[in-house]
Formats: sequence, structure tokens, C-alpha cells
Amino acid sequence: MSQGSLTRREFIRVGAGAMTATTAAKVTIIEPNPGFARTRAVAPSDTVRFASIGTGVRGCELLEASLRVPGVECVAVCDLYDPRHDAARETIKKDVPATRDYRSILDRKDVDAVIVATMDHQHRKVVVDACAAGKDVYCEKPMSHTVEEGFAMMDAVQNGNRILQIGSQGVSSILYAKAKEIFDSGKLGGVFMIEAYSDRNNASGAWVYPIPPDASEQTIDWNAFLDGAPKRPFDPVRFFRWRCFADYGEGLAGDLFVHLISGIHFITGTNMIAHRAQSTGGLFRWKDGRDFPDLIETFYDYANFRMVLRCNLNNDGGGLLAFYGTKGTMTVKDSTVTFKPQDTHPQPEGYSIYGWPAKLREEYVKKWREENPLPAPLDSHAEEAVETFATPPGYDPVPDHQAHFFNAVRSRKPVVENEVFGNNAAIGCHLANFAYFNKTVALWDPNSKKIVKG
Ligand SMILES: NC(=O)c1ccc[n+]([C@@H]2O[C@H](COP(=O)([O-])OP(=O)(O)OC[C@H]3O[C@@H](n4cnc5c(N)ncnc54)[C@H](O)[C@@H]3O)[C@@H](O)[C@H]2O)c1
Repeated sequence: MSQGSLTRREFIRVGAGAMTATTAAKVTIIEPNPGFARTRAVAPSDTVRFASIGTGVRGCELLEASLRVPGVECVAVCDLYDPRHDAARETIKKDVPATRDYRSILDRKDVDAVIVATMDHQHRKVVVDACAAGKDVYCEKPMSHTVEEGFAMMDAVQNGNRILQIGSQGVSSILYAKAKEIFDSGKLGGVFMIEAYSDRNNASGAWVYPIPPDASEQTIDWNAFLDGAPKRPFDPVRFFRWRCFADYGEGLAGDLFVHLISGIHFITGTNMIAHRAQSTGGLFRWKDGRDFPDLIETFYDYANFRMVLRCNLNNDGGGLLAFYGTKGTMTVKDSTVTFKPQDTHPQPEGYSIYGWPAKLREEYVKKWREENPLPAPLDSHAEEAVETFATPPGYDPVPDHQAHFFNAVRSRKPVVENEVFGNNAAIGCHLANFAYFNKTVALWDPNSKKIVKG
């Protein structure tokens, strides 16, 4: 890794606003990991031919990112809203076949893999069918809409011997790899508390997306959209703002907690379901008929640590992951990761002895110095050792995440964010909502594989 120093002004210019005055001195730019799949050349005979199922906002973002991944070719697109066929073709600048019926894509023998970027309530159906058809799958987060669906997807992947990768791209980012390296080094000491949030403060952040003027039952396959959800008359608000409704999404937990949980699981090497969750929050501002709160905070119990997550649609706080250890604190914010050590060198007691007479105090300090001959470190020691790392300007983890998937399709080696990892993270979201809506402690019962009231 080469080291590049930036001044504070330069650093802010590249979009990393996480520094404090004391940490501004030096920033190391993280270089792309040479082992990353994206950097490897691929023989034309190893090209992975994929189709995209769901070419809305995320589907098109993924198609755009796929143009930066060597050795892959999009050969078909599928969506329930016809204009999105054109959006997808425009994105890949290619006139590939487009359909509303994903099963016709799964029937094609020349399709190796599919990207599933449908609304969450359709993930199970498409993933299970794709696995049965022998396709490998990149499925967007959160993996499941319900606990039961997640386990059905796991079975389909494992029974079909398929590769499934879930789409929390942070897991493949060089920033999270650096955070993991710091965490694994032991520099943080024991980490018993982890905190993370993802806040935003605008209509788009609150999913109040515009409804396209051509939205109608002619342009949208409404019945296919309702598959797996209660029947109801055509309603474009439900189609385009589906995240607001429990029939199709999981609100803030499924949209944003899942990224925080996946990131924390990856960095800490945790691949389990939290034992217990308690939530608070409320719907304070975006009262447009939605099912979900615009503020949620959830406290999770894991075997070795506690975790608190928050999403707030009423303040532009951005995002943060913070790991509080006995030897130091690590924060991941925007494009930076910062490690700040704590001064853990032994020090004579300096507080409670103020209740002692001077003679006793002096004797205590003298004795302490005799027993601890090393000089106490300078106060500035910890500040000097603050380390900040930043991704290069414009770094985007999505092509790296895709490359990991497509490389696994070729190599058959497992991916990190596989069906078990994705299921565990998604259940963390379901625990948060269960606790919030039932106003109860939510417990994970591994025997019944269900969430139960505490
Ligand atoms: N990883 C990330 O950072 C990230 C970001 C945004 C969205 N997402 C995820 O991506 C998924 C899609 O989100 P979006 O914002 O693109 O939603 P969207 O509403 O813009 O697009 C979803 C599309 O899926 C299509 N669709 C639904 N069921 C289908 C089916 N059976 N066959 C074919 N097409 C179908 C719909 O017609 C719609 O156009 C969600 O799971 C979401 O959580 C992930």
C-alpha cells in the first residue's frame, strides 16, 4: 500500500468530512486491493452471461456498475413496468431482449446468472425459481421480506448448489476491508459496544419518489407485482413508493439497518443472529399513509457485544459506524476510517486520593513510581497515533461487489455475503420491526427459527 498525505483542505475536497482538528494531520489513501476480482483480466471464454430481473433504480445502478466489471455481459432484462426496459437498455447501451416474465429468462440455457433487484417481497420467489433453474444469483438486500422466506431461499441455494450473493456492497469495499484489518489487529482491545446510524432529511431519503406520468395498468403488470402480497386495486403510489408499505418492504430496517448490520458483521467477523432486540421510534413527520416510522432506534444483544442502530429521516446526519474498544475507538464515516487509540499506560490514581491528607498522597505516589519505573507517557501520545484512512476520490464499492459475485460464478468459490450471511443480516431487520410494532422485546429462537416475544 502506498501512502498519500493530504492537507485538511484537500481532504475535505475529496468528500471526507469525518475528520476532527486533531486527526487532520495525515490521511492515508487506501489503494485497491490487488487481490480484488475486478482487477483481474478474464479470458473471453470465461465471460459470464447474466440477465437483470428488476431494472428500476437499483437495477439500473447495478447495470451501470456491471459495465466496469471485466468478463461479464448482460444478455436480457426484465421488469414489470415497461418503460424500465428502455431505461435498462439505455444504461447498458445495448438492445437486449426485454420481458415482463422472468421465467422466460430462467428458461434460457445461455444465461449463467441473474441479478435480482425487485422489490423485497419478490426476492424469495425469483431467487428460489432462479436456483431451481440452475442460475447463480446476485440478490439485492435485504435478502428476505420475512424470516420464513429467508430460510426457504437458503434451502433453494444449498439444495441447488448455487452461488448467492446479497447486495450490501459495503462488504466488498476497500474501506470496510481496512476497518476489518484494524479490528482484527486487536488494536481496539475488547469491543463490547458498537453504534451505527444512517440519517437523512429530504423527500427522496423518505422514499417520496415521483410517480411517472405514464404509470398505468397498461404499462405496469400490477397482478405480477401483487404476487405474494394482498390483492388490491391498482395504486401507483404503492408500486413506486413500495418501501413505505409492509406488504412489500420493511421500512427503515430493511432499507438501511441491513447495510449497517452487514457492515458490522463483516468488520467484526460476526455471522450470527442477534439474540434479542428492543426498538423505539415513531412516525413524526412523513405522515403520508405509510406503514413505517420515520425514526427507529434498536438495541441488539449479541454474545460478545451490544449494538445500537438508528435511522432518522428527520435530520441530515449521514452515516456512521463506531466501534468502542478498551484500547481505542474506530469510526467509519463517509469515505474514511479513523482509529483513535486510548492512553492505556498505567497511571497512578489521580482522582480519589484527593480525599487523602497530603502526606498519604505523596507516599502513595512515591510508592507507585517505585513499583512502576517506566515514565508515564506524554499526554499527546494517543493523539499522535490517530490514524485515518480514506478511499480514493470517486471510489465506488458496487463494481467490486459485483466482481466478487461474477468471479465466484466462475471459480465456484464461496462469497462472503452468501445466503447464511444475508439471512442473518435480514433477520436483524425483522427483529427490529417485530420489537417496534409489537412494543416488546424481540427474541430470536434458534430452535423454532422464529422471532418470539420476550
Ligand atoms: N444495495 C443498495 O445500496 C440498494 C440501493 C437501492 C435499492 N436496493 C434494493 O434493490 C431492490 C430494488 O430497489 P429499487 O429502488 O430499485 O426499487 P424500484 O421500485 O425502483 O425497482 C424495482 C423494480 O423491480 C421490478 N419487479 C418487481 N417484481 C418483479 C418481477 N417479479 N419480475 C420483474 N421485475 C420485477 C419492478 O417492476 C420495479 O421496476 C430492493 O430490494 C432494494 O432494497 C439496494
